[in-house]
Amino acid sequence: MPDLIDRFGRKHTYMRISVTDRCNLRCLYCMPEEGLAFMEQDKLLSYPQIVEVANAAVKLGIHKFRITGGEPLVRPGLEQLIASLAELPGVEDISLTTNGLLLAPQAARLKQAGLTRVNISLDTLDPVRFKFIARRGDLNKVWKGVEASVEAGLHPIKLNCVLLKGVNEDEIGRFLKLSAERGIHVRFIEYMPIGHDDAGWREHYLPLSRVLEEAVRLGYALERADVPQGSGPSENWRIAGGNGTFGLIHPVSEHFCRNCNRLRLTADGHIKPCLYWIDELNVKPALGSPEAMEQLFRKAMDIKPENHEMAALLAGSQQSHVPTERRMSQIGG
Ligand code: GTP
Ligand code: 5AD
Ligand code: SF4
Repeated sequence: MPDLIDRFGRKHTYMRISVTDRCNLRCLYCMPEEGLAFMEQDKLLSYPQIVEVANAAVKLGIHKFRITGGEPLVRPGLEQLIASLAELPGVEDISLTTNGLLLAPQAARLKQAGLTRVNISLDTLDPVRFKFIARRGDLNKVWKGVEASVEAGLHPIKLNCVLLKGVNEDEIGRFLKLSAERGIHVRFIEYMPIGHDDAGWREHYLPLSRVLEEAVRLGYALERADVPQGSGPSENWRIAGGNGTFGLIHPVSEHFCRNCNRLRLTADGHIKPCLYWIDELNVKPALGSPEAMEQLFRKAMDIKPENHEMAALLAGSQQSHVPTERRMSQIGG
């Protein structure tokens, strides 16, 4: 079957699968303290239904899956899903984006089921500040999750750090040092305005040029690095002689849409061609029909937009289309 190529010639090989919109944290840039109106359990795709969608995707050239949430590890039995995805012919990479809190006791089992690697969200190395940003949980538990992942061989381990002006920008140096000292890949992420009122975003958005400025100020010699496994949107650097790398994911200040290779499947069964805009396609009517499922993926290619308009939002310009009303946790990042 022909590949999934959109109107702008972009070939799609990567699908992000969200398995839940629930989370055991309440990161201040993601969810209000009281949580959101969570999806009803019977609206979620079951694991066999997710595998059916994934199987259709694999036949159309998708060979990389990322499992996301909310927090994916709050959904029981995730290793069953991973094992089923790992059996699909041609799948090369099954990774997980997690806040790490529930990871330590499960890392080895997940690896055994077929998980190849993990990206762990961690915005601060300070336990008190962790409570401020994530509002719940415990930095020590996340760190145990990082250690357990190293031990289980879930390489390369990537840490995702969303930089927030006035909140954690003073930790850039600590994260850079961590990347150099440990074989860990730190990725700094620009705060994105997805699906919510953007006052908080305007207040805390920080362009990632700050990271390079800080590295220079600290006297680090920098070199461009090879991308550790995963063709994510990250621009990768290394402190000369360092063990790990650091990456910049800066969708707002320098968008990477021209190389976008990804589709998203939400926990309630919608294909989202783009993180930013409202358009989505319901997979539920296509379940049970490989032809209908293929058509749905082809339609996703037809409606996929050229790029997002986050920067226009910052400049206060009119948007050309309607942004999504879903929050990050209802999409999967
Ligand atoms: P790798 O496979 O390891 O490269 O992972 P990844 O960077 O694709 O996935 P991850 O879940 O770790 O995402 C890191 C950050 O990049 C998150 O904040 C995502 O929301 C963001 N991100 C991932 N894909 C896209 C995208 O297509 N567009 C935008 N704007 N942001 C994205
Ligand atoms: N902007 C940027 N990154 C975000 N994430 C969650 N919300 C946002 C946002 N508004 C990150 C999480 C996680 C990844 C999936 O997305 O911290 O690492
Ligand atoms: Fe949970 Fe991730 Fe949102 Fe934090 S960013 S509240 S860990 S879904």
